[in-house]
Amino acid sequence: MADLSFTSKDLSSLTTDALVIGVAATPSGPALSPSDALPEAVRTNIDLTLLGVSGALDTVTRIPGVGLNAKIIVLTGLGSMTALNPEALRRAAGAATRTLGGVRSAVIALPTAEEHDVAAVAEGALLGSYAFRTYRTGDAATANTPLESITIATPLADQPRIKAAGDRAQVVAAAVHATRDLVNTAPNDLFPAAFAEIAKTAAKGTSVKVTVLDEKALTAGGYGGLLGVGLGSTRGPRLVKLSYTPAKAASKVALVGKGITFDSGGISIKPAKGMEAMKSDMAGAAAVLHTVLAAAQLGLPVAVTGWLCLAENMPSGTAQRPSDVITVRGGTTVEVLNTDAEGRLVLADGLVAAGEENPDVILDIATLTGAQMVALGTRVSAVMGSDDVRGAVVEAADASGEQFWPMPLPTELRSSMDSSVADIANIGDRFGGMLVAGLFLKEFTGDTPWAHLDIAGPSFNEGSAHGYTPVGGTGVGVRTMLSYLESRAPKK
Ligand code: BES
Ligand code: MN
Ligand code: ZN
Repeated sequence: MADLSFTSKDLSSLTTDALVIGVAATPSGPALSPSDALPEAVRTNIDLTLLGVSGALDTVTRIPGVGLNAKIIVLTGLGSMTALNPEALRRAAGAATRTLGGVRSAVIALPTAEEHDVAAVAEGALLGSYAFRTYRTGDAATANTPLESITIATPLADQPRIKAAGDRAQVVAAAVHATRDLVNTAPNDLFPAAFAEIAKTAAKGTSVKVTVLDEKALTAGGYGGLLGVGLGSTRGPRLVKLSYTPAKAASKVALVGKGITFDSGGISIKPAKGMEAMKSDMAGAAAVLHTVLAAAQLGLPVAVTGWLCLAENMPSGTAQRPSDVITVRGGTTVEVLNTDAEGRLVLADGLVAAGEENPDVILDIATLTGAQMVALGTRVSAVMGSDDVRGAVVEAADASGEQFWPMPLPTELRSSMDSSVADIANIGDRFGGMLVAGLFLKEFTGDTPWAHLDIAGPSFNEGSAHGYTPVGGTGVGVRTMLSYLESRAPKK
């Protein structure tokens, strides 16, 4: 992770590899912003129109740093100034740093009127400084290393709360980076037991306690969902429990994550085309792990329990079959009509286990349905559940710059999951498939206020990079869940 600092010094006095300046798209054309950041003599030599710089969001242009102690000037689009909000700043900062692989240091000068603007620039800059190179060898392993040092130039640099905002940005970005790393890790390396070990190692030396239930413990505890899904794999399922219990906890939140380390579909096998993306089917569990650790690092006065529901969904002679009936934790029987609807089976166990500890609220997060992408596309996640929790999650998402949209749980769809032999079947109506999955989960939440976050599309970027979002794992959900936890803390 890059070092982060703040300065209110004159830009011409700063020595750096790259100086990042904003360009706004105004009705009268592109304009440098802040308008007076650069010395007049430098400014007059930058003809934005001739350079072809429009100021549109997500456009980045490099020019030589003539007349400054900067080797290059990086012009990053801010879009329209009337629409300039913290998320636009985050994206503009991230779009710039994302292109600065191989460059060591950057000073970032974007318009920051308020503390939350500075926080957004810091967060975006750090989120954009990411590369996953675990599997590269030779020169490729060290090429285009992300920035080592980021300095945010802002008139607010010496305000007392800026340092805390910077510290928070670093914790958040580190959690998002670590989540991306897990999602990008190849599934031959990341299987349930390996994931559990990684969780233990990551929590070492922190105040977070980790408990791992292996197959024997899962059998003893009646976790039929995890066990059923895990049957086809030689690498058995695990349930990982993470507990962060600060001394003065204002509330108690449980986070449950879907952690299918590879989803082949099982006997209801998926088509070969695109199956490789199913290494990302553990993105919910990864986000939960790093949200709990980040909450502990920030010392939030909220007790948080994380539940990672880990299994590999494979076809084999020992795999579960369509028509199998399993008994999940708590005794509910489920007829497995499609082995590819496996996420809801492992989450049923996780939700019941979480509910047994009487938290004030449960959030679950999962790459649960292809229908999520049909409904909302690849950048907007869905949230379903109790009205108040769902609303609070949407607010937390808005505050953190992630896109979550509220979706309903229409009760009339429940009967489409009626089974002729068991309490419930694991599939129902194809139309509204995301909502059907949500209604299935609801069966296992009892009276606990709850929301379900479906991140199927947004968790894994199969398109091209944009803003602070790289190709591959995005780390979506961490910022929203953390912001939600912060909203549960007493107001200071
Ligand atoms: N992991 C998938 C959902 C998914 C699909 C996530 C594409 C990300 C990208 C999930 O386990 C699944 O296979 N769901 C099925 C459910 C169906 C069988 C009812 C689906 O959405 O097709
Ligand atoms: Mn599946
Ligand atoms: Zn899945």
